[in-house]
Amino acid sequence: MDATVETRRVERLVRGRATSDGAGVKLTRVLTHDLQHRLDPFLMLDSFRNENPDDYMGGFPDHPHRGFETVTYMLAGRMRHHDSAGNSGLLGPGGAQWMTAGSGLIHSELPEQEEGLMEGFQLWLNLPSHQKMSAPHYKDIPSDAIPEFVQDDGTKVRVIAGSSHGVQGAISRPDTEPLYLDVHLPAGGRFEQTLPTSHNAFIYVYRGNADVSGSVVPERTMGILSNESDSVTISATEPTRLILVAGKPLKEPIAQYGPFVMNTQDQIEQTLRDYRDGLFEANAVRKD
Ligand code: CO
Repeated sequence: MDATVETRRVERLVRGRATSDGAGVKLTRVLTHDLQHRLDPFLMLDSFRNENPDDYMGGFPDHPHRGFETVTYMLAGRMRHHDSAGNSGLLGPGGAQWMTAGSGLIHSELPEQEEGLMEGFQLWLNLPSHQKMSAPHYKDIPSDAIPEFVQDDGTKVRVIAGSSHGVQGAISRPDTEPLYLDVHLPAGGRFEQTLPTSHNAFIYVYRGNADVSGSVVPERTMGILSNESDSVTISATEPTRLILVAGKPLKEPIAQYGPFVMNTQDQIEQTLRDYRDGLFEANAVRKD
């Protein structure tokens, strides 16, 4: 680390691309395939923000996952999930669901509303090779169970994962050490976060404009943060909201086929056989 550099910079701005997934849900895929190595251990980030029910009502009907974790964070709206082992849960505004797919499950994620805004994120976090075939499980974290703190300048920080300013988040993971913060800056607000230089990090601004070391990250844009310092300082001249996500890279090979993320092509082929043979349906799934 260069000791003269005090804070991370914005290395690159990414707008993402509009697409749809599930049964016609419109979303923006912000973290795409080509960024999986740069942002290791993160595999994908989808941002969804739809007022029109036609753009979200279809939801995400039954689909499988294996080999990683999905983190869904709702800002507005309600989504119900069901899985192949009979678990069910409701995600509401400000709530999160941390799903460890491990060796595999089949689940659905469906809107539980017929009108109004549906807004949030789904982040995919990789599992280390030794955990890819672990038992699947879920943790639903309602909004009031997400730790938060408010700074003197009015900046509010919700700690979904990791820790910030001594506040321990709802989730911790030993291998990837994910940090997932939802930061609400008032006009004139300023927030500083320590980040190990080895950890890859980005912000995604979903309201307003954020300033990172003199670079503006505008609304609906991801700013990939450089790894040259062990902290980042974010400020805003207008009310601004963003997520700050960071994690320790796994530095393992990534073999992805749609919703399956393993280390080798042989493991992907085995996964396809297991899926065809009904092993995913047969899997027990724990719900915390
Ligand atoms: Co899913």
